[in-house]
Amino acid sequence: MDCLEITGGARLRGAIEINGSKNAALPILAATIFCEGETILRRVPDLADVRQMIRILEKLGLSFEWLGPGAVKVRVEDEMNCHAEYREVSKMRASVCVMGPLLAKRKQAQVAMPGGCAIGDRPVDLHIQGMLALGADFDLVNGDMVLRAKRLKGTEIFLGGAFGSTVTGTANVMMAAVLAEGRTIIESAACEPEISDLAEFLNKCGAQITGHGTPRVTIDGVQSLRGCEHTILPDRIEAGTFAMAAAITNGDLLLKNARIEHMLAVVDRLRKIGVIVERAETGISVSSSRRLEPVEITTQPYPGFPTDLQAQIMALLCLADGNSVVCEKVFPDRYLHVAELNRMGARLRKEGPTVIVQGVKRLVGAPVMASDLRASAGLVLAGLIAKGKTMVRRAYHIDRGYEKIEEKLNAVGADIRRVDEEL
Ligand code: EPZ
Repeated sequence: MDCLEITGGARLRGAIEINGSKNAALPILAATIFCEGETILRRVPDLADVRQMIRILEKLGLSFEWLGPGAVKVRVEDEMNCHAEYREVSKMRASVCVMGPLLAKRKQAQVAMPGGCAIGDRPVDLHIQGMLALGADFDLVNGDMVLRAKRLKGTEIFLGGAFGSTVTGTANVMMAAVLAEGRTIIESAACEPEISDLAEFLNKCGAQITGHGTPRVTIDGVQSLRGCEHTILPDRIEAGTFAMAAAITNGDLLLKNARIEHMLAVVDRLRKIGVIVERAETGISVSSSRRLEPVEITTQPYPGFPTDLQAQIMALLCLADGNSVVCEKVFPDRYLHVAELNRMGARLRKEGPTVIVQGVKRLVGAPVMASDLRASAGLVLAGLIAKGKTMVRRAYHIDRGYEKIEEKLNAVGADIRRVDEEL
């Protein structure tokens, strides 16, 4: 059942509950490696990537007991195995986030170096640079990163790369530093809300982290961390995706739990396009009039426009009255959705890291191929407005980051069926 059959044309109306953030849940789950005693996490989204992270952590000696929807109790039962193997890591590169906690807590880590993926090379040189700065020994053995350290020592680390800050790199180095001797300062740290949520979780466990959410994070090493209770923050990318679903269908949606303060760059662009976005008591309301204005989009690290919403806003801009320009500064190759949108009648032209989006009057349904998590979300949005049927194939990509997307969208008026891949 790996194909979403979407019949376009409905205006979406109603309320959608926004889940806990995938990109906060993954590093926070990895951080439970530190915790003595019990940890209880709430609003953990039911996603393929989360299930994969849990599988990896179970192999690293952790146990998980589900207490109800989104609520899980975690315990560290055994610390012998410190090897996250290639066959597991290659399925979900964010599993690289186990490296910092393993090295800090168990003094060793063997983690397969993640390969590339559909959105481009996914280097981890900054992660390794951070670990070396903290005093770890490093070796690359048959594609595995092997690190050892009796006790890591706090230091100053510059984590800026050619494309700006690194989200999971900041998470990894911040976690490695929580048990290090003395003070660590991370300069050019990622400022994403998911990093702040991870730091809040670690501080509840007894860590001493300040400056999270800013480019300079300070970590004072402590002796140990104890489990705590923590609720994962709402997923700003899921909220942004559904905001664009409301906009592209000229609909009217209430996104419950969404936090507008985590989405200001997205709200800024949607308002410039002509979409009405307002803070509501329980989240954000999004509605759209008929006209869509063309705009310029440049993706940047937070608080800039998120690369994870680039495909989705490109789908929306296909229908604007005029030409828009989308420039992808974080993952310059993140454009596999361009050719698929053109199959639906869009008029997109890629010029290096930029795409010119020439607005058209309508999109027409067609069979299209999902390539990565967010590109597939963009294709679903296009299918919601396209004339006729759109078949989004390899829909397993979308299940990595969106919980029951067809159920959520059908509940507000969409017409999406999950069918077997067309023969
Ligand atoms: C995180 O990936 C997110 N994943 C991605 O979301 C998101 O697109 C990305 O941050 C950017 O916001 C998770 O949080 C699990 P980066 P991450 O390290 O940490 C370069 C989704 O759809 N870089 O911030 O892997 C890198 O090539 C996913 O939910 C280095 O050069 O991204 C990129 O150009 C997709 N060296 C830029 O930095 C490094 O050591 C940002 O990458 C690390 C990264």
